[in-house]
Amino acid sequence: MDHFELHHGVLHAEHVPLTVIADAVGTPVYVYSRATLTRHARVFRDALAILPQVRIAYAIKANPNLAVLKVLAAEGYGADVVSGGEMERALAAGMDPDSVVFSGVGKTAAEMRRAIEAGIGQFNIESEEEGVELAAVAAAMGQTATAVLRVNPDVDAGTHGKISTGKAENKFGVPFDRAADIYMRLAATPGIAMRGLALHIGSQLASLAPLEAAFTKIGGLMRAIRGAGHTVTHMDLGGGIGVPYKAGDEYPSPADYAAMVARVTAGWDAVLMFEPGRVIAGNTGVLLTRVIRVKQGAANPFVVVDAAMNDLARPALYDAWHDFVAVSPSGERMLGNIVGPICESSDTFAMGREIDRVVAGDLAVFRTAGAYGATMASTYNSRALVPEVMVDGARWAVVADRIEPATILAAERVPEWLD
Ligand code: LLP
Repeated sequence: MDHFELHHGVLHAEHVPLTVIADAVGTPVYVYSRATLTRHARVFRDALAILPQVRIAYAIKANPNLAVLKVLAAEGYGADVVSGGEMERALAAGMDPDSVVFSGVGKTAAEMRRAIEAGIGQFNIESEEEGVELAAVAAAMGQTATAVLRVNPDVDAGTHGKISTGKAENKFGVPFDRAADIYMRLAATPGIAMRGLALHIGSQLASLAPLEAAFTKIGGLMRAIRGAGHTVTHMDLGGGIGVPYKAGDEYPSPADYAAMVARVTAGWDAVLMFEPGRVIAGNTGVLLTRVIRVKQGAANPFVVVDAAMNDLARPALYDAWHDFVAVSPSGERMLGNIVGPICESSDTFAMGREIDRVVAGDLAVFRTAGAYGATMASTYNSRALVPEVMVDGARWAVVADRIEPATILAAERVPEWLD
């Protein structure tokens, strides 16, 4: 459920007509609904309340906008960060450093130092090499870093190959059959305090079955490590729950997910940690765009919109579907190819799709664009970096400026030997 609905024939974000935002800010622009974000955060948190000890670290990569993080911090969310930049955002949003988890295969020593200084609660380490380096960095600072070991359970998440992370051939985590040995060696290393295990098998999962298989496997590993006399107090089960992108698609609900977790983890006696991203942010945003022109095509007309793959990369990268709906639909429909202005054929949002009839100048939105939307934007083709707006009831604000090409140009230098 979200708060993007038609009122008097015009698509609104909560109480604000999207026409108002387009007129004031221009297009393309991402528009987020605070009420939807809060609702998703609460539904997920409340669903997990059936579990004994829970910590939720929102995966900032899904939507790192500061205003978004503020809303989630107020709902008691911590953060899963994967770079120094994301860590600074979590701290800037006022999140408790202890509630921040630092993931990622390539943390640098400088990032480790900064995270230790800031009091980040947990490192999710992805290799023995990383664990050894983290221990050395912490020891040199006279500190002990708290960590869990990310395990690669070799489970097929059944999602798009580019967003699968839990197969043996993926770069993430340590191989399942070596994990216990690595854990025990690191547990004996000064400078690092091992407290548990982590996994994350992929994103946009349509089924709970692969998650259940992975959790069952890692539960067995937890018992083996405990059996060898080591402590395991924290189990980080990652993110990955998919959301419907196409009207009518069915996806597991947070309640289904929580019930499965409760069943699989019964008797674990550990703090369970979660790293949801898309399920929190996905439906909280749309990408608002204007039709530049409708161009005759060989089969169907090309609807050329002013948003492009640099603003919303998911269709080009993962063949992803985003519903496209007119802001003021006439009720008529058409078959069209939706494309952006960028000069390559991957700048295509949809081919031969039945959509609301639109003409040049009309406004439309790509739905479910709140996760992995603005954050993946670039300035390719020297386009502006797309702005972001948050709506709250009848009020709204720009929460990220449009960065104009002139600003980017001003940061470039011509060396004097080229003059
Ligand atoms: N935890 C870790 C360690 C992750 O790598 C990710 C996502 C998450 C949590 C959150 O996963 P979620 O709940 O959002 O599925 N750009 C792609 C998605 C990449 C996901 C990367 N990792 C897309 O647009 O579909």
